[in-house]
Amino acid sequence: MPRIVPLKAPLGARIEGLDRATASTPEVAALLDRALAEHLLVVIPGDPMTPEQTRDFAAAFGKPQIQLLRYKRSGEVPEVSVMVSTLMADGTTDKTAIRAEDWHTDDSYFAVPAKATLLHGIEIPGTGGATWFCNMHSVYEALPEATKKRIDGRRAVHGYDTPRARNRPSPRTPEEIAETPDVEHPLVRTHPVTGRKALYLNPNRLDRIVGLERAESDALLDELADEARQPKHHHGHVWTRGDIVVWDNRATMHRVVIDYPVGVPRIMQRVLIQGERPV
Ligand SMILES: [Fe+2]
Repeated sequence: MPRIVPLKAPLGARIEGLDRATASTPEVAALLDRALAEHLLVVIPGDPMTPEQTRDFAAAFGKPQIQLLRYKRSGEVPEVSVMVSTLMADGTTDKTAIRAEDWHTDDSYFAVPAKATLLHGIEIPGTGGATWFCNMHSVYEALPEATKKRIDGRRAVHGYDTPRARNRPSPRTPEEIAETPDVEHPLVRTHPVTGRKALYLNPNRLDRIVGLERAESDALLDELADEARQPKHHHGHVWTRGDIVVWDNRATMHRVVIDYPVGVPRIMQRVLIQGERPV
């Protein structure tokens, strides 16, 4: 059986000795899925895989789902998106990569957001481009008791876009707009596997707290985001080609650092794993 080696970090574990082809067998899949819930981030080193192999591997964590943006879906395996974040000479990159520079959790604009995201490094720059992760259990636990009382039982509105986000998202087709009305989620959610509470924050999508005036809502969301920005909650993953990284969207946020050289390919495969309604 593979070994789970916790990182010396606020979250994360490395999976060693795993034959990726065995990931979907029930015992190995259960071990991987449990490791994800407990460590919130798992790193599995290895070689680059085909989209089909990546989809089959991802099934160890649940049901791979098809993502919203059509243009990113890989042709033959729609559950696998190809994310190109190569930096262009004019300083731009793909719009979703720019957005991903800010802390976020994936797909919180859906009523049933993805439970986990898998990224698989196909082309990786020699320097830079780390992905950073934030442990939202420890962020919640670090809040002052008075703040915990203020947010307890509160709900918040998540939208595909909000003026609170620093950058605008990728444009949607009319079909994609129809699939993404605003949704409400609890501000504090309970992890369905471990029972631990997590602050469910997403500065890219979170528009307002239900029942508060805009100014009060903005101030409270800023205060919560300030705690999540504390480095004591963070771990940065430095990519090696072929890495598989899976994170738990129910209790983490993540961001990419675009500090790699212009023109060097940075290409990832991505799979979202179907989740449950946050409670
Ligand atoms: Fe993301």
